[in-house]
Amino acid sequence: MKLFALTAVLSTFAVGVFATAIPPTPFVCQNEKVLATHFIGKNNEVEAQVLSCSNLPSLTARSGAQKRQTNVCGNTCNTNCFTPAGGGPDPNDCQVIADALLYDNQNIGQLFNITVGNPIFMQYASCETFFVNQASYNETYCRDDWSSVIEWVAFNCQSQQNAHGGNCVASDQTWFIQIQTS
Ligand SMILES: *[C@@H]1O[C@H](CO)[C@@H](O)[C@H](O)[C@H]1NC(C)=O
Ligand SMILES: *[C@@H]1O[C@H](CO)[C@@H](O)[C@H](O)[C@H]1NC(C)=O
Repeated sequence: MKLFALTAVLSTFAVGVFATAIPPTPFVCQNEKVLATHFIGKNNEVEAQVLSCSNLPSLTARSGAQKRQTNVCGNTCNTNCFTPAGGGPDPNDCQVIADALLYDNQNIGQLFNITVGNPIFMQYASCETFFVNQASYNETYCRDDWSSVIEWVAFNCQSQQNAHGGNCVASDQTWFIQIQTS
């Protein structure tokens, strides 16, 4: 059912092809507060958290927001690998997160919401991933798309590519997904 979308998304992940305003440096959540924690996947093996970070725009700072909840599933994103090689996540650990997202996609639902200022964080062993909403409006994304992006970045931003993880930044900059090591 999602094959076409998956193919379309994957074909747009070309590493380093597009210029982006966001430098390929890892995002770090400042003054991190954990608002909620739960475990996902068939065996509850992946930790998932909703965070609050002081270095993201707050709702009050963006009170002029006009758009409502916006579905960004299937939007193209451009991959940036973090250089240099060394200390990246084991892509097989990232695969566990990708599989847990697919499991939840089938058993809970395809869609999840990301409110302004509240990234979603997931971790399994050496692999960590964030979904960061950079828009002035709440976003809805698809678990199967996040799963595909994790797989793509984890396996294509390795030491062979002089990298240790990376991100995939939406073409319109309104969100990005980061894959890094713990
Ligand atoms: C996302 O937020 C919208 C608007 O508040 C709500 O209607 C919808 O049920 C939420 N979707 C999920 C998957 O939580
Ligand atoms: C985003 O969603 C949260 C929770 O549903 C809501 O409190 C907030 O007003 C929404 N923000 C915007 C900018 O729509």
